Amino acid sequence: MKRTIRPAKTLSGGVEPPGDKSISHRYAMLAALAEGTSELRHFAAAADCRSTLDCMKALGAEVKLDKDTARVTGHGLRGLKSTRRALDAGNSGTTMRLLAGILAGQTFTSQLTGDASLQKRPMKRVVGPLREMGADIRAREDNFAPLEIRGGHLHSIDFQMPMASAQVKSAVLLAGLFAEGETSVTEPARTRDHTEIALEDFGAPVEKHGKTIRVRGIGGDNGSLNLQARSLDIPGDLSAAVFFIAAASIFPDANLLIHNVGLNPTRTAILDVFASMGASLQMLSVRSAHGEIVGDLAVKGAPLKGGVIAGDQIPLVIDELPMLAALGPYTELGIEIRDAAELRVKESDRIAALAENLRRMGATVEERPDGLRVEGRHAGKLRGAEIQPYGDHRIAMAFAVAGLAAQGPTVIRDADCADVSYPAFFDDLDRVAER
Ligand code: S3P
Repeated sequence: MKRTIRPAKTLSGGVEPPGDKSISHRYAMLAALAEGTSELRHFAAAADCRSTLDCMKALGAEVKLDKDTARVTGHGLRGLKSTRRALDAGNSGTTMRLLAGILAGQTFTSQLTGDASLQKRPMKRVVGPLREMGADIRAREDNFAPLEIRGGHLHSIDFQMPMASAQVKSAVLLAGLFAEGETSVTEPARTRDHTEIALEDFGAPVEKHGKTIRVRGIGGDNGSLNLQARSLDIPGDLSAAVFFIAAASIFPDANLLIHNVGLNPTRTAILDVFASMGASLQMLSVRSAHGEIVGDLAVKGAPLKGGVIAGDQIPLVIDELPMLAALGPYTELGIEIRDAAELRVKESDRIAALAENLRRMGATVEERPDGLRVEGRHAGKLRGAEIQPYGDHRIAMAFAVAGLAAQGPTVIRDADCADVSYPAFFDDLDRVAER
């Protein structure tokens, strides 16, 4: 399905992003491992999180989704059942990598697969440490899905994570829950900590010391441990809100209120990037919710300076880089992204997809192995073009925003790929865009 984005005059009103995708995955998995029925309100309206719910259901949890409330009934840490069918993670890297950690700790064998894009994404990063813990895992070319996971008796490890990845950290911690002894993960740079927070909230024995997280497993003298079912409200997804922060920033008289957004400090580096570029952002009604932080964001239009994003900043803003790059032509100095080779193994090769589509709109771009440089306003105004998102939700949404202030209409091909994280995105954008 194609979507046409007509240029807007400004943006105004209010919007509420869907429930946070990362948190929804984790709550769904832990609820399926807990004893009793958890109620997960404002559960992400995202195909990715549906994949997680479907997998947990196939593994024996009862799952009911009523509008945006998911009710998941688990049967305890030893309550999952084997399924003969392959578990399908769809397009979701988080489902596949985190679930691999859980499956490694089960006493049965599972198959885990995903769509064509997910089957091209590297899994060695989780397969390696899970094998070290004692799981027997087969992967295509030893790196790609489908995975066959023969779980079993796991022992704890002290894992020095070679890359800053919340998914890898989470896979090891979730496997650690089933291992004998205490498993630790030390990250080279901070990544989102929703797994640690959620584990604690469901009653698992986790501890954090600086960049090291420890979890005590049920394989040893901790065998009677169980997780408790919870009743939880999921904050709105900041990574989805960012498309609206960007859109409002480019129109001088825009005035937008984004309600109920997750403001966990391991996710808000993107707000610091926007603020340092001159964006007008205000956090309102900040409150806490089950260890997470939530608030509203008031955004007004403001001239953006642009700048360089690199180093330890990258893992903290990894999902927002497509939007930042696509904003480059609307900034004074342009946007330069370095140290972000990881973008090439996301839902698409995001560096290539960004460079190609920015050029289609007339931007000046230098593509590099680990990032790109996008020239600012001086290189000329963007013009509407036909965008090829390569099935990647964040590419589709980033260019819909870029199209709002371009000359002439922008057509997003295969626009329903946005459903992966934000099915109502185009309708929400249309509602706040004044034409
Ligand atoms: C996620 C972690 C990040 C992020 C992804 C969601 C998570 O991936 O890009 O969209 O929920 O843990 P990496 O851990 O591979 O960096």
